[in-house]
Amino acid sequence: MRSDWTDLPPEVLGAIKAHTGPIHRVESSPTGNHADIAATVNAVSGRLFVKAARMMSPDKDGPEVRSLRNEARINPHVTEFAPRLLWTAEAGGWLVLGFEHVDGRHADFSPGSPDLAILAKVLDALQATPCPDVVTMRVERRWESVADDVTPMAGEALLHTDVNATNLLITEDGHAYVVDWAFTSRGAAWVEMGLLIPWLLKAGHTPAEAARWVAQFPSWTAADPAAKDLFADAFAERWSRRRDVNAAAWVAEHAALTRQWADYRRSRR
Ligand SMILES: Nc1ncnc2c1ncn2[C@@H]1O[C@H](COP(=O)(O)OP(=O)(O)OP(=O)(O)O)[C@@H](O)[C@H]1O
Ligand SMILES: [Mg+2]
Repeated sequence: MRSDWTDLPPEVLGAIKAHTGPIHRVESSPTGNHADIAATVNAVSGRLFVKAARMMSPDKDGPEVRSLRNEARINPHVTEFAPRLLWTAEAGGWLVLGFEHVDGRHADFSPGSPDLAILAKVLDALQATPCPDVVTMRVERRWESVADDVTPMAGEALLHTDVNATNLLITEDGHAYVVDWAFTSRGAAWVEMGLLIPWLLKAGHTPAEAARWVAQFPSWTAADPAAKDLFADAFAERWSRRRDVNAAAWVAEHAALTRQWADYRRSRR
């Protein structure tokens, strides 16, 4: 859940201003919900993007802080894609990350959108990037509770794992930035496409159109169809279990989208 910028204790604000100088305007980001704070900060020194999370206690991080630590650790290794991390600060029980600000819009993944070509280029480049050692999360572990054997999803490729339209920012001159590297993992390269599929469906693609679109990626076409079936079923099952315990509308939507994909693959077996 997002907090308000004004919830930040004075010592945290002080630590931020030590980096930015006086701040004259803050705009909270309307999208995303993971970090407690995600905001554009207009300061004397310029514009930057701040993500912050509250620790559970002085020596206990909690999931939001852990996500931000991941993001901070990975950032220097993915500068081809991500806005640069300028500084980090820890004060008053908060962890704060200050990023280069991207003046861009969210990508449009709908059928026929020119942004799909940009997305494809980004994914090709991502798939060609070796996975840095600092990436330690193993993507297949996400499905351990819903599948007997998750090894088909295991591998050593770098996976952003959440290339949704709000995490792909496109500038006026057509440059694309990928944000939100909190859940970056290592695994089989094709899993990136599998995780993208619900976002294509959400943007209006039919499952058959989404299938055609991801077929442009060699890792996807080379993957064993049985592995992709296993993934589709496990992905849908995990989200329906989440929906059973989480009433948020976006969880229900993701459960429906992942189920739609699993049903499509079943219908073609
Ligand atoms: N460096 C940046 N410059 C400008 N805008 C940014 C930047 N980083 C993120 N944003 C904007 O803020 C939104 C939220 O950021 P991000 O996705 O990193 O946060 P999050 O809290 O981890 O969100 P999520 O709930 O999606 O995991 C993004 O969708 C994007 O619109
Ligand atoms: Mg996001």
